[in-house]
Amino acid sequence: MTLDKQAIAADLVADPDLIHFDNAGASLMPRPVLDAQLAHLQLEAELGGYRAEAERQSAIESVYDSIARLVNCQRDEVAVVENATVGWMMAFYALPFEPGDRILTAEAEYASNYLAYLQLAKQRDVVVETIPSTAEGEVDVDALRGMIDTRVKLIAITHVPTNGGLVNPVEEIGAVAREHGIFYLVDACQSAGQIDLDVDRIQCDALSATGRKYLRGPRGSGFLYVRRSALADLHPPVVDLFSATWTGPDSYELRADARRFENWENNYAAKLGLGAAVDYALALGLPAIEAEVTRLAAVLRERLSGIERVSVQDIGRRRCGIVTFSVAGIDAYAISDCLRQKRIHTSVSGPSSTLIDATRRGLPNLVRSSVHYFNSDDQIERFVEALGEIAATG
Ligand SMILES: Cc1ncc(COP(=O)(O)O)c(C=O)c1O
Repeated sequence: MTLDKQAIAADLVADPDLIHFDNAGASLMPRPVLDAQLAHLQLEAELGGYRAEAERQSAIESVYDSIARLVNCQRDEVAVVENATVGWMMAFYALPFEPGDRILTAEAEYASNYLAYLQLAKQRDVVVETIPSTAEGEVDVDALRGMIDTRVKLIAITHVPTNGGLVNPVEEIGAVAREHGIFYLVDACQSAGQIDLDVDRIQCDALSATGRKYLRGPRGSGFLYVRRSALADLHPPVVDLFSATWTGPDSYELRADARRFENWENNYAAKLGLGAAVDYALALGLPAIEAEVTRLAAVLRERLSGIERVSVQDIGRRRCGIVTFSVAGIDAYAISDCLRQKRIHTSVSGPSSTLIDATRRGLPNLVRSSVHYFNSDDQIERFVEALGEIAATG
């Protein structure tokens, strides 16, 4: 199935002249996602938040069905949360670590996840180790196999890092985790919405994602998947009267489903917006989305490599829609600012957001130009022309 780019363009709320290559930062919401939120905010203003929620109960519930379809799980394995970080942290801090336990992670791991490992290393004496990468840049699965022993408590992998198009082989890693019965946590923050995710194929126990990036959902939305068989052993790091019931003066009972990782108060407009975004992606089809995003990113990489002073910094055998580069002699922030003045949106990925990978490769600040299926070949040409001028005069 190919994408109907005209229909997709008609759903854009943004000015068609804007070149938005910051989909790894925050993408552009399509009209149905905006409308779902506006309608609910209107209802809240008219009826008050509690009545509005009651009126839209079945639509709110169907957000869980949509997410379950997106990642191929059951609805009771889904928690809808504020962002990817909250989802990831809920699963991570629920694990019963003991001193000496080992955590194995990727070199291109995201800063917030790594900071959580370091905190636990301090507090509970766990050991954090990075799995070496192959010469091409992704997690070396053979090296991972050689690192396994009975002390490995967690394998935690960022599917697509924040600093480039690398796609880690999460399914091959999942096979190793499953074989050894090791808890497997996947950060799918940058892959959800651009890569077809299937938690059974990946064989992960938990997976977190955000709304505002490739899913084109609202800010302040995200979700966590937790495998049903893992749920009973995971005690949320915080509980409230939604995640648990107060059953007696000295007792409480956790919810049986993944909503034990949620809490009571919610931004229902954002939740409905997230559901609309997931439905929008599902209607287009994730394989078709992935094919178009990958194609556009490959064209962009190719065109960038022809510009003097520009170095494409992506690694990996398989690469997705995030394209990072540097320009000799000009800082990435200056490049991104100049592009913004030409109505082109990019962002900057600094070394501290993926410190291990950036240190290993000696990376400077990188310009991150991340394309989505609603972008066009023509926009790439205009982008390359604008960048060529900046690089020539800078
Ligand atoms: C790989 C990765 N993981 C996690 C996050 C955190 O996502 P959120 O800001 O939604 O918590 C990001 C954000 O850029 C990211 O790139």
